[in-house]
Amino acid sequence: MTTAPSTFRVPLPDTLVDLLGKRVIDLPAAELDGALLRDEAGAAYDRVRAESPEAQIVVRRCRDLLNDPDGDGFAVLEVGPLLDHYGLVDGQKAATILLSWLGRPLRPFDKEPLWRPLGTNLAVDPMRATGVGYNPLHIDVVNATEPPDYSALLCVRSDPRGEGYSLVSQLRRAVDRLSEGERAFLAEEVFHGDAFSDLTGVGKEYAPFPVLDGLPASEGFVRFAATMLSDMNLHDPHTSAARALERELIAEQKKFPLGFGDLLVVNQHLCVHGREPLGGRQEEVPEERRRLLWQIFLRAMGADS
Ligand SMILES: [Fe+2]
Repeated sequence: MTTAPSTFRVPLPDTLVDLLGKRVIDLPAAELDGALLRDEAGAAYDRVRAESPEAQIVVRRCRDLLNDPDGDGFAVLEVGPLLDHYGLVDGQKAATILLSWLGRPLRPFDKEPLWRPLGTNLAVDPMRATGVGYNPLHIDVVNATEPPDYSALLCVRSDPRGEGYSLVSQLRRAVDRLSEGERAFLAEEVFHGDAFSDLTGVGKEYAPFPVLDGLPASEGFVRFAATMLSDMNLHDPHTSAARALERELIAEQKKFPLGFGDLLVVNQHLCVHGREPLGGRQEEVPEERRRLLWQIFLRAMGADS
């Protein structure tokens, strides 16, 4: 279903856009210490939040949308004015500052920058994040002992063909709709993800892993990525249980377009994400005009931070 945008969109007040514009130049660069934003930068960014009532209101609204266990576990922050007013470089830094108020910026892929560009590539498997086809529902880095707590996608250029809507679905409610028998199969350590290499800040490889780890949503994950189903034996009851979960997720999924400057943030403890196919005839669209997203991850901070 297409969801009323007012329920999950978070506009930035002009005063906050102005404040970030004034401060962004002098704040330290978003450099990393290992896989995480270094402490000094995080502390400097947090001082901006501490001095701004508008920032605190935005943060509270985002946390309510993202972390309420009965909510949908996602939000779309409207950061277009940051990119529009300050350009892509300083605008990206301002978006990093904003996100650092929700969690600690994390770069799990050793070979990628903190903000990982996801362009549109006609040569890769259409189901991949940079492909042109249906990207089925999943959490990112599913086969890690500590997947990123939040996954975020910033739309720098939407699909010129007007398609490629984002998909999200609430995991915990989908699990609740399964039978007890299906949940028992999903709790067994028999599931496998993609290759696991050149990753930092996400714990160790979890192989094989259970879809259900039995932990509450504040700590645990529902480790689900629909792509894992293609390698599984059709006659195995674990496969049937995982397919039942996918059906429940799709039945209640929400879809919406991301426009320029829309920053989709997903709490991976509660919510899967995916993408509908991009529009046809992408080969007629020059590469520099095709859809472009920037991806970033966050590690949750303590409840009081
Ligand atoms: Fe993803």
